[in-house]
Amino acid sequence: MDNQPALVEALRGISKAPPPIWLMRQAGRYLPEYMAERQKFPDFMEFCFNSDVVTKVTLQPIERFDFDAAIIFSDILTIPHFLGQTVKFEKGHGPILARVEWDHFLKNGKNKDLSPEYQPLFKAIQDVKSALPSGKALIGFAGSSWTIATYMIGGGKSKDFSEIVKFAETETEIFNEILDLLTDQVTWLLLGQIKAGCDVVQIFDSWAAAVPAQHREQWLWQPLRKIYNALKAVYPETPIIYYGKGVSLDYPKLISDLSDLCFGLDQSVDVKWAHSTIQKFAPVQGNLDPEKLVTGDFEKDVRGILENLSAGPFVFNLGHGILPATPIQHVHRLIELIRNQKS
Ligand code: CP3
Repeated sequence: MDNQPALVEALRGISKAPPPIWLMRQAGRYLPEYMAERQKFPDFMEFCFNSDVVTKVTLQPIERFDFDAAIIFSDILTIPHFLGQTVKFEKGHGPILARVEWDHFLKNGKNKDLSPEYQPLFKAIQDVKSALPSGKALIGFAGSSWTIATYMIGGGKSKDFSEIVKFAETETEIFNEILDLLTDQVTWLLLGQIKAGCDVVQIFDSWAAAVPAQHREQWLWQPLRKIYNALKAVYPETPIIYYGKGVSLDYPKLISDLSDLCFGLDQSVDVKWAHSTIQKFAPVQGNLDPEKLVTGDFEKDVRGILENLSAGPFVFNLGHGILPATPIQHVHRLIELIRNQKS
């Protein structure tokens, strides 16, 4: 096979020194050049579906920091939006999703082909791909079925997930249909992104930890397996990263049947444990605390992460998304620290 970007090689199990680096949510509000583009669009969804602006903001962090990968600019809530549950982003509020009547919504949404709606995204993927310098990878993404469902059922970002869990436990049939619908849509969206040119895809399961242990198999792992198997059947070589916040203790049992899955580690994960329990069997990505990148006090943590994880297949990243208050100089210093490590 021809030369692949370092990120792809690392995710296929080849150790790289220094490790490739990108940061979750690397295009966003901490960047003045992002804010300058964002200000031109009152509506966030409109911003997300303008190919030229998506191409531009996707490339901004690569131009400024020379990361090893770009992540296509979009949002995990585009799926409910296009299924007919209008998503609005209001300043200081986070996303607000319209209430829907589930029977009608599910009937209407089942097997709905959203590819016409996603054409501007796919076009941006092609444009970014041809603009990226060689050696840089392009990452596509979607939310997990569960994490998207929490926004749809809760009408926005839930503070306390007990209402969502209660809904799932009492309205079982509707909940299962929501999960199935989302599992199909996530699969089709990721297939479309890979077809358009993404080298890697990541599944964001930011609220995985809200699922009680006895429901994880059904609410998290069955949908993940379906998505994984459907993607691997068509694109066996394309790495898939699962980022499940707060559920890494469950990763070891996923390794046996999702043998090529790569694992995102949040900042709560002990890197020594991750090395011996996960990284021996699968590539890992993570896990600097994003707060440390805000304060600037990250050198010791970075050294600890590298000491424990950089010998195996590894991608440097944060444990969750970069925070809007992050000073740009800290990002430069982080990259320098990682690339100048003597191994
Ligand atoms: O990583 C990247 O740079 C690509 C872009 C990206 C966005 N959202 C753009 C965005 C990605 C990968 C996401 C994923 C996403 N979206 C997640 C999973 C990761 C995570 O952070 O947990 C979630 C839960 C969402 C849902 C969402 N979208 C929320 C809660 C919000 C508001 C608060 C926030 O986190 O910013 C959004 C809006 C959003 N998505 C913004 C951006 C840059 C901010 C919108 C703005 O510019 O005003």
